[in-house]
Amino acid sequence: MYVCLCEAITDKQIRNTVRKNQVTSLKGLRQILPVGRECGKCLRQTCEILQEELTHLNELCVEHVA
Ligand code: FES
Repeated sequence: MYVCLCEAITDKQIRNTVRKNQVTSLKGLRQILPVGRECGKCLRQTCEILQEELTHLNELCVEHVA
């Protein structure tokens, strides 16, 4: 599904970028992907996806440590 229509960026691209590059912030993500560079309407949804990915990563860490 497209998240950023201006730059044609999908949720999968965002998730893959977060996972591959160990991105932990919106700023870090935007250094790699041009998400939100035009109108910025996609930034809220981009943040939600980033948060989901970070939460998932935390859950994986807890499983490994427990
Ligand atoms: S929809 Fe992402 S910059 Fe416009």
